[in-house]
Amino acid sequence: MKNWTREERYRPLKDPQELWTLHQETSRSNYRQTYHVQSITGLMNDPNGFVWHNNQWHLFYQWFPWGAVHGLKYWYHVVSDDLVTWKNLGVCLMPDREYDNKGVYSGSAMPIGDSLYLYYTGNSRDENWVRHPYTCLARLRDDGWTEKYPLPLFGAHPDYTEHQRDPKILYNPEQNAYYILLGAQRKKNLTGCVLVYKSDDLLHGWNFAGELKVPGFESFGDMWECPTIEKIGGKDILLFCPQHLRIAGRGSSTNHNGYIIGDMSWDTLTFTPKTQFHVLDFGFDSYAAAFANNVQDESKGILIAWMGLPDSSYPTDEENWSGCLTLPRELRIRGRRLVQQPLPQLKELRDQELDVTKADRGELCPLPQSCEMEFYCRPGDVDLILFAKENGEDGLKISFNQAKCQITVDRSHMDRRFNEDQGEARTRSLPNGLTHLRIFIDHSSVEIFVNDGDAVFTSRVFPDENENSFQIHGDVFLRMWTLKRATKDTMTI
Ligand code: FRU
Repeated sequence: MKNWTREERYRPLKDPQELWTLHQETSRSNYRQTYHVQSITGLMNDPNGFVWHNNQWHLFYQWFPWGAVHGLKYWYHVVSDDLVTWKNLGVCLMPDREYDNKGVYSGSAMPIGDSLYLYYTGNSRDENWVRHPYTCLARLRDDGWTEKYPLPLFGAHPDYTEHQRDPKILYNPEQNAYYILLGAQRKKNLTGCVLVYKSDDLLHGWNFAGELKVPGFESFGDMWECPTIEKIGGKDILLFCPQHLRIAGRGSSTNHNGYIIGDMSWDTLTFTPKTQFHVLDFGFDSYAAAFANNVQDESKGILIAWMGLPDSSYPTDEENWSGCLTLPRELRIRGRRLVQQPLPQLKELRDQELDVTKADRGELCPLPQSCEMEFYCRPGDVDLILFAKENGEDGLKISFNQAKCQITVDRSHMDRRFNEDQGEARTRSLPNGLTHLRIFIDHSSVEIFVNDGDAVFTSRVFPDENENSFQIHGDVFLRMWTLKRATKDTMTI
């Protein structure tokens, strides 16, 4: 892989034509997907500003145009009528002010009248390359016109390090007040936390309200990226990405997205945990998950995440692009956990139902590059190999061990291995056994929903041309569909 100089990483995009060749090369890749949101060129990471507004879903992603590395970031805008089909709208926020000169970093959106208000971190650096984070505001009108506010809403708080970012805008009806949550790191001991700002007006008068108290989590990772507090089914959920934390069973990976269920008091700014920290996704590649900001149904949330991780590399880096988003998921509370299920409308992606008679007999069968599989499982061991070779070997192994009541996803047998040090197998216990699996495959990703959301394993995979079969052993009933295209590789800037 090429070594990127600072100049190359922070080179502003002046003329979209400069990206044309890169886009053409990118769209020829065998690993481009057909129903996930993916970067038009270069690297994408966090989903930002996910919201329903003006009869459409709006979503933005962190975008670095020039290649598969992190550098000068933009907000790229995509829209959808149904959360199934997506359209590229183009760049929405560019790093063109002093206060965001080294990147328009992650944030969120709030709709008001004919506009979407976008709250983001201006990642500014001075001539000595010292970082100064600002919380900034832009307005995107329905006619497509974007206006940045001349000054940031506020700058860095002196008691915290340069890591203060990812504003999440929230309205609290009980307090009749707006809040901005920021991920931060304390100067005194370099531990992670959430900062709370409050105002009764979206545009002005923001004041520091205090640091969020989370008893028992005073020293838990060293920066909490992308925090949010949401309510589902009457319970409060604190979702965040504590950096540089080791979690048993997750290799040497130090990037995890997880949540705590508890009670939030906006009066005392205390989140009282009622559960431990749970990872959101048991797979390999999922981070910076974002809730849609204004879902009306209080029993559920809608969530989408970056199908990738910081400090990691992927085989498409060699092709100069990287990253995609997960499918949007419906979130509910079940007991002391959050469960994620594919949105019901994703069934509209189903195209042709495939004949699975041979698969039922345990024979090796062709695996389409984008498809959905649904399994109803009776008690007993289940062994499924996806992306197997024609001799039935290798591939991605999904196995349920009845005696141990455990499901394991193992990608160490794929030809193209990557991020091996983060661990190549992930296991989750299923005390009530395995009853149901829904699996979505899209050229270079696999999303496995276990027992209607008891566990989700989201992972990138990069099968070679000869890793194109599957085989199943176990007492299961399978249905399988090819899936329609729902995203287009259009070069809209
Ligand atoms: C998380 C993150 C955010 C930041 C953004 C920059 O992946 O590091 O904290 O705002 O990415 O692209």
